[in-house]
Amino acid sequence: MNILVIGSGGREHALIYKLRQSPQVRKIYCAPGNGGIASMAETVDIGPLEVDKLRAFALSAGIDLTVVGPEIPLMAGIADVFEDAGLTVFGPKKSAAVLEGSKVFAKDLMKRCNVSTANFEVFSHLGDALSYVRKQHRPLVVKADGLAQGKGVSVCHSEEEAETALRNLMEEKAFAGAGEKVVVEELLEGKEASVFALCNGENGVIFGSAMDYKRAHDNDEGPNTGGMGSVSPHPMLDKNMEQTVLNTVVLPILHGLLEQGIAYKGVLYVGLMLTKDGPKVLEFNVRFGDPETQAMMPLLKSDLPELMMATCIGDMGHINVDWASEKSVCIVAASQGYPGHYETGFPITGLNDVKDGFVFHAGTAIGKNGSVITSGGRVLNVVATGKNYEEARQKAYMEVQKISFPGMFYRSDIAANLDT
Ligand code: AMP
Ligand code: GLY
Repeated sequence: MNILVIGSGGREHALIYKLRQSPQVRKIYCAPGNGGIASMAETVDIGPLEVDKLRAFALSAGIDLTVVGPEIPLMAGIADVFEDAGLTVFGPKKSAAVLEGSKVFAKDLMKRCNVSTANFEVFSHLGDALSYVRKQHRPLVVKADGLAQGKGVSVCHSEEEAETALRNLMEEKAFAGAGEKVVVEELLEGKEASVFALCNGENGVIFGSAMDYKRAHDNDEGPNTGGMGSVSPHPMLDKNMEQTVLNTVVLPILHGLLEQGIAYKGVLYVGLMLTKDGPKVLEFNVRFGDPETQAMMPLLKSDLPELMMATCIGDMGHINVDWASEKSVCIVAASQGYPGHYETGFPITGLNDVKDGFVFHAGTAIGKNGSVITSGGRVLNVVATGKNYEEARQKAYMEVQKISFPGMFYRSDIAANLDT
């Protein structure tokens, strides 16, 4: 089997690491890939939104399975274009990708399917939204309907904060059309969890769980980031709770979509808040998590291409997802200044000294002299597994200390105090 992976982050590197372990795989290509992926797959210089070029490449290279990493090409309809060309693609079509692309669509669907989520209202006029928040006298969360580079959500503890967030979206139009509609919802309290399910339209199976560390600095301080670390499985989710998520979230959503003529195929990422009243959905993503996937893949025992093919073809009745019983910890090494302004192009040393873990590259490139240099905010993901979180954590921190580049920083409290 020949596989094309689309994307250039640590998530894609981790998927390729797992895909290439399968005896069924002949060749893996990655478009566009990064400095680490280049040592595991043939990189192809086509961007994730160059859909026609990607289709032409997949047809000419005899690709049997295309795996789409990021959400943007899915929202642009890459799965539709590939399927029309007779290609097999792991990832939902445009009509299903709207589950991530529109928070109003996702919230309305959850309401219709009785899926537990924060109580909410939708507004398309600033005046209506302002008069609503003035009457609430409680913390609220203001969300742009569309994608806003991860900056469209504001947790507001006062009326003034909510007003500022609404004006920013609807008056200043900080995120253009993404803020034409807004969701205003109740603030949920608890721990966040990411749960994944492979879905073939009608049916789904749970595909692991993880906990993501979103803030830039220790003790969950500093700005929100794309993720500074992760652990898998999630320490507060057991198999029973995962099945509850399947039965009360994933399956109702799949059936609700089918009623609208939409078959969701691929992986569904359920972002949950574990509240004292049970799990409530914060958001859906139509792809794997980053950096959750980096912690998860070293624990997966099943054949990944086989699972993905079964999902695409729709034959999921007999699939069995098998995980190692260990725990996994991922530490993100980032460039000084991230998630704000940062410099790139610095040489990275020590990569070959990591022996007791995995290094998945996120923002790296190959420099002029053939060495690996930094090219992004999140640069590397160092992952280790162990019999408990503490063992995995100690290994991961030992290994990350062998690596260095100018301005490198990482959180020192990933996976701290998780064992019970
Ligand atoms: P979303 O893109 O909707 O998941 O929001 C991004 C982040 O904002 C989430 O991962 C949470 O950390 C936070 N968040 C979103 N909605 C809520 C809510 N209703 N209550 C508390 N935190 C929230
Ligand atoms: N880890 C958060 C995300 O992938 O969206």
